[in-house]
Amino acid sequence: MKRPYLLAPSLLSADFAHLGRAIEQIEQKSGDMIHIDVMDGHFVPNLTIGPPVIAALRGLTKLPFDVHLMMTNPAEMADSFLEAGADYLTFHVEAEVHAHRLIERIREAGCKPGISLVPSTPVAALSELLPFVDLVLVMTVNPGFGGQTMIASCLEKVQELKKIKQENDFSYIVSVDGGVNCETLPSVLAAGTDLVVSGSAFFTGELDC
Ligand code: DX5
Ligand code: ZN
Repeated sequence: MKRPYLLAPSLLSADFAHLGRAIEQIEQKSGDMIHIDVMDGHFVPNLTIGPPVIAALRGLTKLPFDVHLMMTNPAEMADSFLEAGADYLTFHVEAEVHAHRLIERIREAGCKPGISLVPSTPVAALSELLPFVDLVLVMTVNPGFGGQTMIASCLEKVQELKKIKQENDFSYIVSVDGGVNCETLPSVLAAGTDLVVSGSAFFTGELDC
């Protein structure tokens, strides 16, 4: 049966020694996209995957790559991620002063620009950018690690974003990232989320609810 939402399993919770196998698993369970968490050890206290690994994975699947940059100065390395095969390239509003320029650069490269915000950032911080993005990624945990507990109040931002979208006829999809499991999924969907990111719950089988 078709899910009433799009699912992007996050490789962050996959076995890093067998990423190809994780991609097969995502395809078998009909994931719609593959969420790839890029962490730089500055914006968040963890280091993960970079452009060479993304490029190596690109040949393994036709599923879109939903690349989530949790890094300072994302514009400095954006080209490498675009060349590596990102389909959506999302960066954090907290990390980039010249966001319009980067959004334009991503679109020029034929990729879909996304913008994300950490739990302490209000939707108002995105107001100038919403007309120009294809995806808004609402973080429902402080980014850096998988398996954290959702900060449920962040889901109000999803409702706010859906309302703004409708009122202005904007075209972005709204994604939720962090702490999604069987228990929290109903409220995530009730808020109007289009794209659900799931790391730990997907790879432990807990999202099979
Ligand atoms: C968190 C990452 C998330 C993470 C989600 O910093 O951006 O994408 O993989 O993991 P879970 O679903 O375990 O909270
Ligand atoms: Zn993420």
